[in-house]
Amino acid sequence: MEIKKVGVVGGGTMGNGIAHVFAQSGYDVVLVEQSDDLLEKAFSIITKNLGRLVKKEKITQEDADAAIAKIKKSTDLDDVKGCQLVVEAVFESFDVKKEIFEKLDKVCPKGAILATNTSSIPITQIAAVTGRPESVIGMHFMNPVPVMKLVEIIRGIATSDETAAAAVAAVESLGKTPVEVNDYPGFISNRVLLPMINEAVFCLYEGIATREAIDTVMKLGMNHPMGPLELADLIGLDVCLDIMEVLYAGFNDSKYRPCPLLKQMVLAGYLGRKTKKGFYEYE
Ligand code: NAI
Repeated sequence: MEIKKVGVVGGGTMGNGIAHVFAQSGYDVVLVEQSDDLLEKAFSIITKNLGRLVKKEKITQEDADAAIAKIKKSTDLDDVKGCQLVVEAVFESFDVKKEIFEKLDKVCPKGAILATNTSSIPITQIAAVTGRPESVIGMHFMNPVPVMKLVEIIRGIATSDETAAAAVAAVESLGKTPVEVNDYPGFISNRVLLPMINEAVFCLYEGIATREAIDTVMKLGMNHPMGPLELADLIGLDVCLDIMEVLYAGFNDSKYRPCPLLKQMVLAGYLGRKTKKGFYEYE
């Protein structure tokens, strides 16, 4: 089935970026949110981000206008019925996603691909609530979507080769790089990144070095653009803890135990940049 029209469910941090990149690549997009206010908010972010590309002379104002015109706003999930691909990017809650996938399965034609942008929920578990697990796949975009080149393509246990090939082709058509991985906790990105961050927190917790020293070692020694503690503040310490808990529960392996300091900071409400305090302080 050729993909021409793409549904995006959820227009938050990730969803508005996903709608943006599909529209900019010429797809018709239906963006579904919970309210008109949230749709307006998503649109103002998309417009601002396209405007930035115009300013940098990466696209023309006509391109930006054409992209915006490609996106139809909706507060009704039924409106994705004509889409050949739907990418879900709502809250990271299995119950919320379950309700959406059950509905998408009823609304979308047979053969339409149902993708999720989840960063930690098993694709296999989401696929199992539908009658078409072969057409369900993970499309894990990175934040900020318009900038980041990688999309992890995650195959659930039942995902067909045809679905995976179509998802790969769709990502390539966005000028991004798809990487195929299988459906195990944390996929590749979070399974490798989060234990590194957690180990940096352990180094701080055990008094091995200061926050600045730990980050400097990784920046200057390993050429990482940000230190692991700075990055944890950017991601959100609550999100970091959630992902460590997913790895710990998923593998039953003590090497994924979250550092007590990370847990304590989340309990204190020190969540990083979003609360102006994490491993560092922000104005
Ligand atoms: P967010 O909280 O910024 O946005 C979620 C949006 O979904 C909200 O605007 C909400 O109104 C909307 N929504 C909730 N229920 C809905 C429904 N029934 N119908 C339509 N819209 C609905 O969340 P964010 O950060 O965009 O995350 C979305 C997904 O992407 C999550 O699964 C998350 O794990 C994943 N993800 C997030 C990344 C990040 O850096 N924020 C990176 C990669 C994946």
